[in-house]
Amino acid sequence: MIEVEDLQVFYGEGRDRFHAVRDVSFRVEKGETYGLVGESGSGKSSVLNAIAGRHSDWTGTVRLAGAEVDPRRRNPADRQKVQIVFQDPFGAIHPKHTIGGTIAEPLAINRRQNRGETVDALLRQVGLPGRFRYRYPHQISGGQRQRVSIARALALQSPILLLDEPTSALDVSVQAEILNLLQDLRRDQGLTYLMVTHDIGVVGHMCDRIGVMKDGRIVEELTKAQLVRGETAHPFTRELLSESLLG
Ligand SMILES: Nc1ncnc2c1ncn2[C@@H]1O[C@H](COP(=O)(O)OP(=O)(O)OP(=O)(O)O)[C@@H](O)[C@H]1O
Ligand SMILES: [Mg+2]
Repeated sequence: MIEVEDLQVFYGEGRDRFHAVRDVSFRVEKGETYGLVGESGSGKSSVLNAIAGRHSDWTGTVRLAGAEVDPRRRNPADRQKVQIVFQDPFGAIHPKHTIGGTIAEPLAINRRQNRGETVDALLRQVGLPGRFRYRYPHQISGGQRQRVSIARALALQSPILLLDEPTSALDVSVQAEILNLLQDLRRDQGLTYLMVTHDIGVVGHMCDRIGVMKDGRIVEELTKAQLVRGETAHPFTRELLSESLLG
């Protein structure tokens, strides 16, 4: 569902040009959740933003659902293959738009019919009552706002969701609810996830495989079974594991 080969991501121009992601390759099968872990600044969000079409200064090959996409998504069909959900549900939602308006926006941009019904169905899918469509973001909780971002990401029925620390801004009790919701949606809708997390607990709950990033590269790839057995070759992964066991 996701094939990335030899991805290089850059920022800036001339002397300020920065090579943030180097030689990154991985693939994610349909229905799988692939986790990206690694220290701050290692390039995890850069990989997601390149795949999402949010940052276009990259080289390499990205195939989504079997077809190659270009950095600028010149083909409109490519824009509906993947959606991204961010860490901060407040930052991702317009404060002056109603919940219904927020969820309907991608539908309106793509001139979809029956938007009211679709918004109702999306609210239901993420476990929110239909009357929430009339509320504003400040009138709902952080966990509910993250449900709204997920509903919006589901609106165009994209088969791939990119999740950039989707629960790290939430209370621990709410984190589990959101992770369970994501698991249910993945199973029921056959979605494929690429997920950034700092939390080894989240990896254990969600991910079939992980790639460990350091200094812009994937330095190690592990299945969940290898992770559980502690079979990590790279000292950085060991560090990450022990840190999260302590934390
Ligand atoms: N818009 C930008 N302009 C310039 N440099 C950037 C930009 N975005 C990211 N970078 C740099 O690219 C590198 C990778 O950043 P990225 O955001 O991908 O890291 P990350 O692994 O997601 O970190 P974190 O865990 O803190 O979110 C960092 O050195 C960062 O400073
Ligand atoms: Mg990041």
